[in-house]
Amino acid sequence: VVMTEAAQRFVTPLAAGALVGERVFTDLFDQAQEFDVGHIRLARECDLIIVAPATADLMAKAAHGLANDLASAVLLATDKRVLIAPAMNVRMWQHPATRRNVATLKHDGITIVEPDEGAMACGEFGPGRLPEPAAVMQAIEQALAAGPLAGQPDFEAEPAHRPLFGKHVLVTAGPTHEPIDPVRHIANRSSGKQGFAIAAAAARAGARVTLVSGPVALPTPPGVDRVDVETAREMAEAVRRALPADCAVMVAAVADWRTEDYAPEKMKKRGSAPPALRLTENPDILATVAVSDKRPRLVVGFAAETEKVVEHAQAKLKKKGCDWMVANEVGTDHNPAFGTDHNQVTLITRTNIESWPTSTKAEVAKNLVNRIVSYFEEGQKTHDTDHSNTNTKQAATGS
Ligand code: PMT
Repeated sequence: VVMTEAAQRFVTPLAAGALVGERVFTDLFDQAQEFDVGHIRLARECDLIIVAPATADLMAKAAHGLANDLASAVLLATDKRVLIAPAMNVRMWQHPATRRNVATLKHDGITIVEPDEGAMACGEFGPGRLPEPAAVMQAIEQALAAGPLAGQPDFEAEPAHRPLFGKHVLVTAGPTHEPIDPVRHIANRSSGKQGFAIAAAAARAGARVTLVSGPVALPTPPGVDRVDVETAREMAEAVRRALPADCAVMVAAVADWRTEDYAPEKMKKRGSAPPALRLTENPDILATVAVSDKRPRLVVGFAAETEKVVEHAQAKLKKKGCDWMVANEVGTDHNPAFGTDHNQVTLITRTNIESWPTSTKAEVAKNLVNRIVSYFEEGQKTHDTDHSNTNTKQAATGS
């Protein structure tokens, strides 16, 4: 346990030490503490660093690399994953300075456990309450499951090496679960791997990335802002809130239908006939985004097909009003796609059809993000809307 001066005004180091049964560190300039352990060892000899509760002040220091006390020096010296669980007044949380600091911390690969919304000690109401311990524990488990950091974010990188710097990319991933009753749901086989790989590649290219994910068992890629949802309607709402964005890549396998009548109690076996489920259509998130007044400049859909892949994907591109469609065969021996680490896709723009060789989902993501980079660099004119002149080619994409 490391306690700041402010923390010691609320809880004494003696009390914190008695609770955890460990020594508590408080002072960067205490010769005995530095000699015994030292801030560099504290920063390195751990699996994970958790800052809870994090004040606006500490987050500002961490975002700017200040290191004038033990806690901030440990944060600057560490090469381990860092989780920050903020707690502050709603106005402080919403202040543009804090918003900038949160964005910087996320971009640096730090995970923010979003604060809860509710009544505050100061009498105001809104987001800013320390997240519940269960939410912090879940974030800890996810961070530990993700293993050590592959490397520090590239602080030295020039904007040229972060070509999507300043762009907001919205990605959807995973399945949606449509509840039937409290214990059953309609689902599909999407694991989220392809969408998460795209979110990770976009973040590496410097974009601010919002990843709206259905229920999956994947860790959040570094630098990505993740919103977890369960149903198609929740995903539609999370996407609406995340706009505006410069680019949307909708990889999620959204359930087309949900049950019309959710049973609030577990459905029981009655008589011999099984119950019939009446289905009703879910909102089409991609089509809604494509006509929204906050339409991203580039809207990319994914099409999962079991036959006539290109033909069906082209029809979807038109029907849903997106700019590109990435088509993949699914559930076949040739390309199972769901849950696997590989994928074979065809990129369909309004003027081109380009079949990419089978590669890892990470490679597909990297190639797609490269195309997104060129789109923004070259401008829309090279990707215009001429449906009459569609070229078909096999791409030698490489990386
Ligand atoms: O998650 P993985 O295991 O890695 O598998 C990856 C994948 C196979 C799920 C992925 O590559 C893929 O194909 N995603 C799209 C799945 C899908 O739902 O396809 P679709 O043809 O039904 O939908 C077309 C597009 O409309 C998609 O962009 C989808 O997100 C969107 N959609 C669909 C229905 C709906 N109600 N709202 C939507 O926005």
